[in-house]
Amino acid sequence: MRESVAVIGAGVIGGAIVKSLLKSGYNGKVVATRRDIEKLRELEKLGATVTTDNRKAAKESDIVFICVKPNDAEKVLEEISKEIEGKLVISTAATIPLMFYKKIAPKARFVRSMPNIAVLVQEAFTAYCCDESVTPDDEKKIKKILSTMGICEEVEEKYMDAITALSGSGPGYISIIIEALMYAGLKVGLPRNLSLRSSAQTVLGTGRLILETREHPAKIKDMVTTPGGTTIEAIYELEGSQIRQALMKAVEKAAKKCYELQEKLIN
Ligand SMILES: NC(=O)c1ccc[n+]([C@@H]2O[C@H](COP(=O)([O-])OP(=O)(O)OC[C@H]3O[C@@H](n4cnc5c(N)ncnc54)[C@H](OP(=O)(O)O)[C@@H]3O)[C@@H](O)[C@H]2O)c1
Repeated sequence: MRESVAVIGAGVIGGAIVKSLLKSGYNGKVVATRRDIEKLRELEKLGATVTTDNRKAAKESDIVFICVKPNDAEKVLEEISKEIEGKLVISTAATIPLMFYKKIAPKARFVRSMPNIAVLVQEAFTAYCCDESVTPDDEKKIKKILSTMGICEEVEEKYMDAITALSGSGPGYISIIIEALMYAGLKVGLPRNLSLRSSAQTVLGTGRLILETREHPAKIKDMVTTPGGTTIEAIYELEGSQIRQALMKAVEKAAKKCYELQEKLIN
């Protein structure tokens, strides 16, 4: 029998997961749910089965993604708790710890994951952690399915909030940088589209360079800096700005917000 995956709450991230599974040629059945059926039509056209019935979707699937907002997770989990007994459930909800899920549905096996919106182009970084009942066979399935969305890595649960603040929200920060670079291109006379393409590809290429060469970013910076050249002029300006501290503070703030939301949710 074909494996079947349900995505409960196919909004921004759930919808991206559905699209990524379909695009990657995942050979199982993909079922997507949300309350507004009309907003599922696009996924239906791409090949997903769509429904507003969470219980039916969970019952008919082997693996269940929960992609609703953290505040909706408890309600949805209670609704499908019978249907997910003995099944693998992968949540993308920020801040919610594994023990929270386990308390509501002790017979399901849970994975807490944190992808990012680059799932849409199968370039996400997804960190995940598993509850103790996840089996080695589940581990294989998790890796296989999360790998269709980009790079995935198992981490200790204590790192999940920091990961949420760094790579979960990261596309937001990097978009600001790309936008700023695009405007910088306009400032020095580039046409808008050329400026945007060259900014975005420069971010993408630098990321790949660091990942593939495994070099420290400082080494890449050194490689592009000629004595008395143009790059050092720009780097001199950047080093006099607060750019490094601004990014560190931004991630620190986001992580702090995760802890605050978690406190509220659990207590
Ligand atoms: N956005 C990101 O970049 C990102 C990245 C990593 C993780 N996350 C996490 O992923 C989760 C979803 O975030 P999001 O940005 O994708 O939010 P979103 O776009 O609002 O998606 C959540 C979806 O859940 C649906 N929903 C709500 N109640 C439901 C119910 N009872 N049954 C079925 N569907 C229901 C909503 O659709 P209806 O109103 O039509 O039901 C909505 O489309 C969050 O927990 C977030 O922490 C998000």
